[in-house]
Amino acid sequence: MRVVLATNNAGKLRELQALLAPLAFEVLPKSQFTQEEVAETGTSFVENALIKARHAARAAKLPAIADDSGIEVDALYGAPGIYSARYASAQASDADNLHKLLAELANTADALRTARYRCALVYVRTADDAAPLICEATWEGQIARASRGTGGFGYDPIFWLPERRLTAAELSADDKNRISHRAQALQQLLALLRGQSPGTHSQAGY
Ligand code: IMP
Repeated sequence: MRVVLATNNAGKLRELQALLAPLAFEVLPKSQFTQEEVAETGTSFVENALIKARHAARAAKLPAIADDSGIEVDALYGAPGIYSARYASAQASDADNLHKLLAELANTADALRTARYRCALVYVRTADDAAPLICEATWEGQIARASRGTGGFGYDPIFWLPERRLTAAELSADDKNRISHRAQALQQLLALLRGQSPGTHSQAGY
C-alpha cells in the first residue's frame, strides 16, 4: 500500500521507508504531490501533526503519516513546546534556538533543568479520516549548561541524559534512533499498522 509522508526531511523519509517496507507500505514524499506548505495553527503536537497529515492526504489522495515534535522545559512551563523550531524567531537556526534556551535558563539551578522531547505521530487513511491513528511519546532529559557533541540536530547538544552522562548529540545515530521520542512513537504506530487491513482501523480498545 502506498502512503505519503508529510515532510520533506530526507532523513525522516529514509527512516520511515526502511521501517514500513516489511509491512508492504511504500512511503512517498509529500514533495512528489505538492510543494505547498500548510500553516501549523494547532495548539498541540497532535493537532499540528493532524493538520500536516490531512493536508498531505488531500494533495496525494493517499493515506498519510505526519509527525510533529519539540522540547518542553519544566522551568519554562513547557516552552518552547510546539514553537521549538521557531523559538528564537520565525527564521531561527538550530543554533539560535539553542542559545536562546541556554540564555533563558542561565539562572536556573541544575535540579530544576528537567525537560523532555515529545513527538506526535499520526496516520490518516483519507484527508477527512474521523478515526486517525495517534501515537505520542516522550524522551526525558535535562538542559545542560553548554553544548556537547556533534550528532543529531536541534537541541541535541544541550539535551543531557543523566543516566548515560552524555548529551543526545553524543549518542550514535543508531542509539538515538532506538530510544528517541520519535523512535518510540514510530514503534507504537508500527504496532497499530500491523493490526490494520486497508479499509479498517482495528485498534486495541476500539
Ligand atoms: P518538527 O516537528 O520537524 O517541526 O521539529 C520541531 C523542532 O523541535 C525541531 O526543529 C527541533 O528544534 C526540535 N526537535 C524535535 N525533535 C528533536 C530531536 O530529536 N533533537 C533535537 N531537536 C528536536
